[in-house]
Amino acid sequence: MARSTSPSVRRPWSATAIRGWRHEIALSIATFLVLFIAWLIAPWGPYFVLLCAGIVIWQRPDLRSRFQGKAQARQAILRLQAAFWICMVIGRTGEIPTVQRIEITSVGRTYLVHLPAGLHFEVIEAYAPELAAALGVRQLQVRPVQENASYITITEVLVDPLPANLRSGLTTAQRVDLWMPIPFAVADDGHVVHLGLPEHNLLMGGEPGSGKSVALSSIIAAAALDPSVSLTLFDGKQVELAMWSRVAERFVGPDQEAAVDALEQLRTEMDLRYTSLLKQRQRKITPDTIHGLHVIVIDELAFYLRGGKKDRRDQFAELLRDLVSRGRAAGFIVIAATQKPSHEVVPTWIRDLFAFRLAMRCSSSDASDTILGQGWAKQGFSAASIDPSKRGVGYLLAEGGVPVLLKTPYLSDDEIEAIARRAQKLRAK
Ligand SMILES: Nc1ncnc2c1ncn2[C@@H]1O[C@H](COP(=O)(O)OP(=O)(O)OP(=O)(O)O)[C@@H](O)[C@H]1O
Ligand SMILES: [Mg+2]
Repeated sequence: MARSTSPSVRRPWSATAIRGWRHEIALSIATFLVLFIAWLIAPWGPYFVLLCAGIVIWQRPDLRSRFQGKAQARQAILRLQAAFWICMVIGRTGEIPTVQRIEITSVGRTYLVHLPAGLHFEVIEAYAPELAAALGVRQLQVRPVQENASYITITEVLVDPLPANLRSGLTTAQRVDLWMPIPFAVADDGHVVHLGLPEHNLLMGGEPGSGKSVALSSIIAAAALDPSVSLTLFDGKQVELAMWSRVAERFVGPDQEAAVDALEQLRTEMDLRYTSLLKQRQRKITPDTIHGLHVIVIDELAFYLRGGKKDRRDQFAELLRDLVSRGRAAGFIVIAATQKPSHEVVPTWIRDLFAFRLAMRCSSSDASDTILGQGWAKQGFSAASIDPSKRGVGYLLAEGGVPVLLKTPYLSDDEIEAIARRAQKLRAK
């Protein structure tokens, strides 16, 4: 176990330290040998070798920067390993964790680390603040590697991972294939988070102004730039998604009758698709079938599920449940956002149908759990802990099975206008 100072613990620290410096030692020995052989050949041999090396380094800036990059990475690895020693992060056999790979990300460096016997993810996670202080960095993020418990990733965060404004790659994209995972946000470890939308529904929740409509716009932009995708938009506020109405097959404003009608039409379309699939002896829509994906976006779900007449509300809830639960194989993707993520607005029987959930800043841990699922707040994943001034930040529960803190890019009105115009042209073709 870490920190153990028991005399029975064998600690071959000198062997481990030598292993940590093995590359430097090997390079020094190789340099010495080359110079020695050159000296044996001729007394001026070492000068000639050094001159040649100098010319190569001078003439090849690419080699120079590669060498420099490798040297910096090596230095970073040695610093981390020194921090393990300083903080006594030592396994049962007296070994410290070893760095297998290093990757430079937009926020700093991510290390793939192998743990010796006696150490596991939770032990290292508990050491994170101490290690961060020893390294003198902003923060250290420790994540388990799902496939193998003896590996973890450690991210050294050097810059703010969730900056005020992130530019969307969609502003310049000419075309998107929605069958492929789309870049959706940037995680707090600097990695781009992709969403594979086919066969998945997404539920978003968060307090007013937390960034739900902005996140919805990113997804609509991607769907709009795939001309094979149909779009149906429901907007309880009318103005949030109105800019996308020109690329949508249907746009429903704050009108419950129209919303129920639109859902009924979608159900008819879904049943027709299933009849067609049955005829073609297929079980689900694929990129090769004639029907494309159909993305249904509902902003302000509470307006349709809580407002108006009771029979209309019930009708809407039932049609939505049917669409979300049966629409997956027919190529229907439902993306819904709600301002008030309470049990009355999002009953668990609706929430549990959504495989992907995004909790933007919430006013309480209960509200956060309403979106992500019971128990996540207790495990430290609560959207109530998000700084209210950080718009567009939220916890996404998707494929990895553990919520990821991320920040979505911002699309200005002009950018939305430009993307919508491009998508309209693409569709007209
Ligand atoms: N990802 C983001 N990056 C930068 N700023 C953002 C981001 N998301 C939201 N904002 C800022 O927050 C404001 C509110 O965002 P948005 O309209 O998406 O909130 P909302 O959750 O939909 O609120 P409401 O529930 O009231 O509709 C935006 O106008 C923008 O200024
Ligand atoms: Mg909104």
